[in-house]
Amino acid sequence: MRLIEPPRLLPPTTRVRQSWLDGELADRGADGGETRLLERATANFGQFVAEQQGVLLRWGVPATIFWYVSGPHYLGELVIRHELTPALAEAGGHIGYSIASPWRGKGHGTRMLSAGLAECRRLGLRRVLLTCAVGNAASRRTILANGGVPDGRAKGEDRFWIEVPDGGAPQTAPWPATPPAHGSVVLREFTEADVHLALELGEDPYVPLIGSLPAHPSRQEAEAWIARQRTHHAEGRGFPFVITADGTAVGTIGLWLRKLSEGIGIMGYSVSPEHRRRGFAADALKAITEFAGTVPGVERIELYIEPWNRGSIRAAEKAGYRREGLLPAHQEIGGTARDMLLYVRTLGCSPCSRSSRGT
Ligand SMILES: CC(C)(COP(=O)(O)OP(=O)(O)OC[C@H]1O[C@@H](n2cnc3c(N)ncnc32)[C@H](O)[C@@H]1OP(=O)(O)O)[C@@H](O)C(=O)NCCC(=O)NCCS
Repeated sequence: MRLIEPPRLLPPTTRVRQSWLDGELADRGADGGETRLLERATANFGQFVAEQQGVLLRWGVPATIFWYVSGPHYLGELVIRHELTPALAEAGGHIGYSIASPWRGKGHGTRMLSAGLAECRRLGLRRVLLTCAVGNAASRRTILANGGVPDGRAKGEDRFWIEVPDGGAPQTAPWPATPPAHGSVVLREFTEADVHLALELGEDPYVPLIGSLPAHPSRQEAEAWIARQRTHHAEGRGFPFVITADGTAVGTIGLWLRKLSEGIGIMGYSVSPEHRRRGFAADALKAITEFAGTVPGVERIELYIEPWNRGSIRAAEKAGYRREGLLPAHQEIGGTARDMLLYVRTLGCSPCSRSSRGT
């Protein structure tokens, strides 16, 4: 099956219900294992998923469960145990994983473990233990491909240590399991069907000047722009969202991470001309700002707005941003260096964003 987007690790999500049930059924059919989990999930998938989200206490240690997901497809599961008990230090280790049988043999296990190591780094782990049953050649190869160094055997398991890589390229926080929403808008991922939104925005005189969308785009250019939006998150650049109201795509908003090393997230947004002045930009800013509070490392959000842009200024103010100053000739737009107002919101001081980041 062709995947429409690169898989990534997400907190367990109801979005992949059917695929999870199909995978679990195939796995239990293959190994003849017990089906209690499958029965529980079939009876109430929402509750089953909710029970697996957040930091759990399992094996006597804090643990986080991730699902490896592409669009509606569930490919596998990865569990990180934040600490080791004496038993886990012998066999079990920090990370457990499995790829659902329909997706095996395609390199997903190796890539999922690599993504899992990035999550380990975020949790502060620098060296992790993995163990796999003696004779499990696929799992052994997966671990070795991720830098596993063998360290003997215990309880019928081969043991390996992996130095968690520095990451080099920025590691992006997971895509939100629950779409950010506020008031009348819900933010979602770009899909190929959003080409009409790109065509509409490309007709606005200003939107093409402040982003990468060509002015008066052809259908092909609009499709190419959408395709680029769909890779930004996997490449660590940030979170591009489509703003929807009553299921209609009305605009775009993005949280960009190019200044993440300074604790800064940058936002940009636009609403299609026919949907303006209905509060969509302000609601979208509120929704994405709340989400930004859950992205590790983002302490401050910056918006750059031209002084004439009353709608954008008003939307920013309504979403709680305050003006920090005027930056003369700060940004080239349409071939001239333009003054920009800097609007800022500091996160981390609200109890809500602090607890959601677990600090
Ligand atoms: C700026 C933009 C995103 C605003 O979108 P929007 O959905 O129309 O904004 P909202 O409806 O949420 O409006 C927010 C506030 O601004 C006011 N507003 C909107 N457009 C306005 C305008 N042209 N002049 C004055 N006030 C305006 C609204 O009345 C509302 O204030 P209120 O609640 O006090 O009445 C939209 O005009 C746009 O996409 N412009 C082109 C791209 C752009 O400028 N992006 C921002 C770059 S910094």
